[in-house]
Amino acid sequence: MKNFKRTLITSALPYANGPVHIGHLAGVYIPADIYARYLRLKGEEVAFIGGSDEHGVPITLKAKKEGITPQDVVDKYHGIIKDSFEKFGISFDVYSRTSAKVHHETASEIFKTIYDKGLFIEQTSEQFYDEEANQFLADRYITGTCPKCHFEKAYGDQCESCGSTLNATDLIDPKSVLSGNKPLMKETKHWFLPLDQYEPWLREWILENHKEWKSNVYGQCKSWIDGGLNPRAVTRDLDWGIPVPVKGAEGKVLYVWFDAPIGYISATKEWTPDWEKWWKDPETKLIHFIGKDNIVFHCIIFPVVLKAEGTYILPENVPANEFLNLEGDKISTSRNWAVWLHEYLVDFPNKEDVLKYTLTANAPETKDNDFTWKDFQTRNNSELVAILGNFVNRTLVLTDKYYNGEVPKSGDLTDYDTNALNEIGILKVETEKALDTFHFREALKSAMEMARLGNKYLADMEPWKVVKTDPVRVKTILNVALQITANLTIVFEPFLPFTAAKLRGFMNLGKFDWKELGRTDLIGAGHRINTPELLFEKIEDEAIQAQVDKLLATKKANELEQQTAKPAKDNIVYEDFAKMDIRIGTIIAAEKVAKTKKLLKLTIDTGIDQRTVVSGIAEYFEPENIIGQQVTILVNLAPKMLKGIESQGMILTAENSEGSLVFVTPASKIKEGSEVK
Ligand code: MF3
Ligand code: ZN
Repeated sequence: MKNFKRTLITSALPYANGPVHIGHLAGVYIPADIYARYLRLKGEEVAFIGGSDEHGVPITLKAKKEGITPQDVVDKYHGIIKDSFEKFGISFDVYSRTSAKVHHETASEIFKTIYDKGLFIEQTSEQFYDEEANQFLADRYITGTCPKCHFEKAYGDQCESCGSTLNATDLIDPKSVLSGNKPLMKETKHWFLPLDQYEPWLREWILENHKEWKSNVYGQCKSWIDGGLNPRAVTRDLDWGIPVPVKGAEGKVLYVWFDAPIGYISATKEWTPDWEKWWKDPETKLIHFIGKDNIVFHCIIFPVVLKAEGTYILPENVPANEFLNLEGDKISTSRNWAVWLHEYLVDFPNKEDVLKYTLTANAPETKDNDFTWKDFQTRNNSELVAILGNFVNRTLVLTDKYYNGEVPKSGDLTDYDTNALNEIGILKVETEKALDTFHFREALKSAMEMARLGNKYLADMEPWKVVKTDPVRVKTILNVALQITANLTIVFEPFLPFTAAKLRGFMNLGKFDWKELGRTDLIGAGHRINTPELLFEKIEDEAIQAQVDKLLATKKANELEQQTAKPAKDNIVYEDFAKMDIRIGTIIAAEKVAKTKKLLKLTIDTGIDQRTVVSGIAEYFEPENIIGQQVTILVNLAPKMLKGIESQGMILTAENSEGSLVFVTPASKIKEGSEVK
């Protein structure tokens, strides 16, 4: 094992084309934050870097759609994202952005250095071009029919219907998003990073020397390398991004995945003039926290860029996570299938740590995982409230009650006391081991074991009973319980920083170092604690149901959005149509059919007669609101018994975009009995 002096922690720069959600938090920012806080608590030298990724095609498309500039888009979301991270207590040392000047300069310089060394390959190829808009078209700027499933609105890089990865040239009947025209092919020059030339080096660096990387990360690297690496274009024809800093590259920008990881370096520069020790000293340990879709960029492409440049260190580890799903479905910004952090903060004020706890306990470390609101509630009510909160509360309340908040002096310890106190040391070692190897779920579990230990200790010792027979013994019991509680303020600091601070406040204690975790004399006899309050509160069913309902509404809206008009039925002849006698009528009475949810009994003035029609529209109309409503009615439909009522005809309706039924009515009020022909 190499010895390092300091740790540089980076977390993937989120795209500033939307707010951040629980998937971002669970996959990247929570583990990175836990790790940073843990190392700081150990007194190590740490830098924790973040920022917004503000280039790339999706941002330009979003701007176009909303009629604003790409800079407007990124300004808006950078603000929202930064604010959410701050409120969740993600402890970045710096949170920068890739539209910053220092970043443009840094990325240009690195490109220029590699260019000057002659390491890029210059290559001309044919790309789609929109003559009317006068520009080359990125894959996302082209839509057409998917060659695999024949979905008509597939993008040039991907079909969202069948999920296939595509090349724009694969699309049947391609169209430019800008003009709707069929794009032409036109020659253009780009610069390529010759990944293939670095294959032997990558093989040795990763496959030989980093066998300790997580198996999902190592496995992906191996399959990329074994699959054969190709030169990769690092420039694009686009008007949003960092201009390619060489002659003959006018109108071209750096590929977003070339500049974005360099954002880690620029952010460090923004943070400290002493940035080079963080990026160029081999005694700095560089760790990238990312999601699984970023693996190839952080393990292969960015390291090749750094290697080609020649003066930078390389990552020591890349603990990438898998994905978090939401209630069984893939989280999606475009489908609004997410729990947005800025909304959670409003819906669950002062419960940042509850979400952090749930997302850590359920982190997608080795496989994709599912977030459900039910699990969130259970984690809160049965773990945070019932174990951690309960133990702490009982300890503090009893201290307050029996000793006026003054920590009692311990007498002789029993074996049971000693075992409980020893257990803290054992759990410390377990927690550390898990944290050092990026197993954050396990680490949190060990921390929680410490609270369970305390809870069990109190339940077994029953000081509230012993106080009646042996008040001296109770002093020892509560002293032990208070020592455990003081240890909890340390062990939870990396995971639940707001809670740890609150608990320190209750106990009137300052912040300890991690190395003091395990001490059984953290809090001295005679120390005064503050009047205790609750650490966590129960989350009721209503709050959970409201969230579930919100998701159901999203689902419904998405389904309707997806619906395209059904194809027409087979042809009929005029005589078939003429058999139907359709009239205009007016509803003159309406009532719910007893014991049914969907049926209304309507009385209709058809001009011919007054008749009864039973109609399945009760979910969409209140009876009293539709009296006098004109409707279209098929009057010669054979009568039918429905729930004991004879229905004589059928009212015509259509479904609107919210999924409710609306009546089909004449454009202006007309006489009952008028024929529809
Ligand atoms: N914006 C990318 C994403 O959300 C991550 C960029 S990470 C960086 O997938 F290294 F490029 F910054
Ligand atoms: Zn398809």
